[in-house]
Amino acid sequence: MTEIEGATTTPAHDPRRFRDALGWFTTGVAVVTTGVPGGAPIGITVNSFSSVSLDPPLVLWCLDKKSDTLAAFEAATHFTVNVLREDHREISARLSRKGDHSLAGLAVVERESGCPALREALAHFECEVEARHDAGDHVIMIGRVLNFDYAEDGRPLLYHRGGYQMLPPL
Ligand SMILES: Cc1cc2nc3c(=O)[nH]c(=O)nc-3n(C[C@H](O)[C@H](O)[C@H](O)COP(=O)(O)O)c2cc1C
Repeated sequence: MTEIEGATTTPAHDPRRFRDALGWFTTGVAVVTTGVPGGAPIGITVNSFSSVSLDPPLVLWCLDKKSDTLAAFEAATHFTVNVLREDHREISARLSRKGDHSLAGLAVVERESGCPALREALAHFECEVEARHDAGDHVIMIGRVLNFDYAEDGRPLLYHRGGYQMLPPL
């Protein structure tokens, strides 16, 4: 029995169809950046970013435990969430490639905490790590927002059903 005409209800342990169903939940795209002691800063593309709490100001994102960046983010005391613009597909694609999380060649500014940030992002949330929660094959990273800024205009990059999208023209 299904609530959606013509659709088949699938047990949640079918990962392919589970992903497909989640793909209907359209999101923005962000890059989470952090410094690496003794190394070059890194960034990873995510769409699991979410607001959590206004007071205190908390946000979260989820990191795949299989990610090459896991050790860096488990050691990090701070990270910055950079919300991407619609013309940032290349940055998104580059920082979602396995083995390539370097920010070399990108316009980067260092924030108060020493965390790098992508200069052209639509919004930045500079965070102190508040908590990390083990959650299945991911780790939920909760950040306390220390400061933020945002552009007065611009258009976000969207992620929908496994591909990039843009807002329709105004
Ligand atoms: C639009 C988009 C959203 C993504 N969201 C996440 C995410 O929320 N969490 C995550 O761990 N990986 C996410 N990924 C995958 C990572 O960006 C990246 O592909 C993966 O981490 C590469 O492997 P590595 O981290 O081992 O180098 C996303 C990729 C894309 C293209």
